[in-house]
Amino acid sequence: MTCYLNGEYLPIEEARIPVLDRGFIYGDGVYEVIPVYQRWPFRLADHLRRLRRSLDAVRIASPHDDAGWTAIIQGLVDRHPATDQSLYLQVTRGVARRDHAFPKDTPPTVFLMTNPLVLPTPESVAQGVKAVTATDNRWFRCDIKSTALLANVLLRQFAVDQGTSESVLLRDGFLTEGSSSNIFAVRNGVIATPARSHLILTGITYEAIVDLCTSAGLPLEQRDVSEAEVRQADELWLASSTREVLAITTLDGRPVGNGTPGPMFRRMYDLFQAHKREVCPAA
Ligand code: PDD
Repeated sequence: MTCYLNGEYLPIEEARIPVLDRGFIYGDGVYEVIPVYQRWPFRLADHLRRLRRSLDAVRIASPHDDAGWTAIIQGLVDRHPATDQSLYLQVTRGVARRDHAFPKDTPPTVFLMTNPLVLPTPESVAQGVKAVTATDNRWFRCDIKSTALLANVLLRQFAVDQGTSESVLLRDGFLTEGSSSNIFAVRNGVIATPARSHLILTGITYEAIVDLCTSAGLPLEQRDVSEAEVRQADELWLASSTREVLAITTLDGRPVGNGTPGPMFRRMYDLFQAHKREVCPAA
């Protein structure tokens, strides 16, 4: 499999970074995961905007402009045999003697790889998945798509250890997001999801769902969502680049609504599939 490292496309087995890379030592970097359908990166402009916001937030100068990023990404997508891919892009603060403070004049490390996109199985889409609640114990800059994901890793494993797919995170009695997804709750036909803030990573899938609600006239409220609302929801959805939109049908061992994906989910799932086909048309 081909990857991209600092200006070169090469087989991933041959890609090497020095052990002093600050991504390795500190998790000092940011990343993106971009789904690719029919060789079209999905909502690439949105992903590049979020990448720029993450880089600005951690004060790494972007090594490329949007045209440069687009060329690197398309170059990698075109080298992979699969038409549908999950592309990973990471920028770290580069290689330097270990010291917490920023190094001077150190070029960032740029790494990209792409893999076949593995979407949820048709069974998961039809039946929904299980999730558990957990306390959101992360920092206060969850809006930065940082490679320092230890808390998210532990929270996801907490879900897996209980035979479920995701942990639904609660902070001070309110919903934030999933360990690697955004969460939507539906009650009496109204969709609610936390508004953009430093406490969540605003997903590009989240943004797509917001746009689809607007264009289809579905009632959506972006506001604080209490733990009680999560527990009393008729439907819960999770959303991410690699899982698209998926119904959570069991939360903490109890059925969500009637325990099957609800009508609002099916509507959004269909809208999302149509949106994908529209923005990533077959060649
Ligand atoms: N994660 N919130 C968190 C904490 C996430 O890690 C992700 C996605 C999202 C959804 O963002 P998007 O819709 O842009 O994928 C929300 C990716 C898929 C990952 O880390 O693999």
